Amino acid sequence: MTDGRFLSLEGGEGAGKSTQARALREALATRGIHAIVTREPGGSEGAEAIRDLLMQGAASRWSPHAEALLFAAARADHVEKVIRPALGAGQWVICDRYVDSTRAYQGAAGGVDDAAILALHAFGSRGLLPDRTYLLALPAAEGAARAMARDGGGDRFAMRGEDFHAAVAQAFDGFAAREADRYRRIDAMQPAPAVTQAILDDLADWLP
Ligand code: TMP
Repeated sequence: MTDGRFLSLEGGEGAGKSTQARALREALATRGIHAIVTREPGGSEGAEAIRDLLMQGAASRWSPHAEALLFAAARADHVEKVIRPALGAGQWVICDRYVDSTRAYQGAAGGVDDAAILALHAFGSRGLLPDRTYLLALPAAEGAARAMARDGGGDRFAMRGEDFHAAVAQAFDGFAAREADRYRRIDAMQPAPAVTQAILDDLADWLP
């Protein structure tokens, strides 16, 4: 049995993370690799219940600090019940958003200290980080327009203003630049198949 690999897809709204997660799973399957696709917030029964709390209601329902705690709690359950067992069984895990979303949305854009978010992650999820994180990079305005066309931009986060989403995009760019060992920045303005191919090319060393 080969070791499971843990991949996360990150980026702002409308960058195509869910589409890429599915395309990647199919591409890996043709190479004999079994991957599960999961998402945050959510991915386990408990975390999906917390997702409902986080995504519904007025934008002001939770403060960024309360959100950081809820995302960390959801993640702790998801890691314990889904991600670690899959990796332990030799499966690959493709996660649509992970801790870097908390660092970008609640941290850089929401004002919560990055070290505090990482401390919550160390406590809740024993600090588990992806083997590789793909940033699907898109100008914030383009992503907002795509998300609006897809679902009316309805949840508590999508409805934030332009400045918020620009801060999120800038934060992800900063992570990708500073954490270059783990991060790969992919141009998400390319057609979806080209994005998938760019990720597969990057994974080549790990593929049979
Ligand atoms: P999505 O399922 O469409 O990606 O929506 C999830 C929303 O939640 C998205 O706007 C980003 C936000 N979010 C955070 O603010 N912090 C987090 O830690 C995560 C995982 C998501």
